[in-house]
Amino acid sequence: MEFSVYNPGEIDEIRNLFTRTFTDSENEAEGTMVGNLAYEVMNTTDSNDLFVFVARDHSRHHGEQIAGCIIFSRLTFDSRIDAFLLSPVAVSTDYQGKGTGQALINFGLSTLKDNGTKLVFTYGDPNYYSHTGFGPVSETVIKAPLPLSHPEGWLGQSLVSKEIEPIDGKPRCVQAMNKPEIW
Ligand SMILES: CC(C)(COP(=O)(O)OP(=O)(O)OC[C@H]1O[C@@H](n2cnc3c(N)ncnc32)[C@H](O)[C@@H]1OP(=O)(O)O)[C@@H](O)C(=O)NCCC(=O)NCCS
Repeated sequence: MEFSVYNPGEIDEIRNLFTRTFTDSENEAEGTMVGNLAYEVMNTTDSNDLFVFVARDHSRHHGEQIAGCIIFSRLTFDSRIDAFLLSPVAVSTDYQGKGTGQALINFGLSTLKDNGTKLVFTYGDPNYYSHTGFGPVSETVIKAPLPLSHPEGWLGQSLVSKEIEPIDGKPRCVQAMNKPEIW
């Protein structure tokens, strides 16, 4: 598996990856929703506010294929601390359970760190994301950008120190992520 930054020409293949993966794991409506969300984030977010990473499989006979993708978009705090939100995340169904997701997230986190990012957040399964350094974040320490339907899924980590220091005020997410129904 090879990890790298995406090429904007791959945006349709990436939308299909999210649609297929979430259709398999949830249902068709969820697949379409997440595929469209990934497409909108990639299409409408300023390149300074976006990192997209892919895992490519070169070993297959029918040429290379994108096996996984993760998207980070900026969270803006009044204090201007460099922070990103990891969402969405998908590893194609036939590639799951082999460490690809974890390795891709670790690749993304180290690239963000090299670019000066201090804090990274995500919203998802605490058991899964604890494998790559994320822990629960209380909203008394850092608020989420929108009201959470599952507060226990609000997760984060500092890339530069052991603990996340409290920050006053609510961060803003990018426009494509600013949808109450995904939180
Ligand atoms: C969740 C997902 C990204 C994981 O990718 P993956 O490549 O299969 O995961 P990895 O092989 O890197 O998993 C590493 C660890 O996480 C565990 N794990 C995998 N999927 C998990 C899940 N859905 N929930 C909890 N733990 C999970 C594995 O057991 C493994 O643990 P171990 O190292 O202790 O054995 C992938 O299964 C997926 O795309 N699922 C459908 C879409 C989805 O749920 N996306 C995440 C939304 S928050």
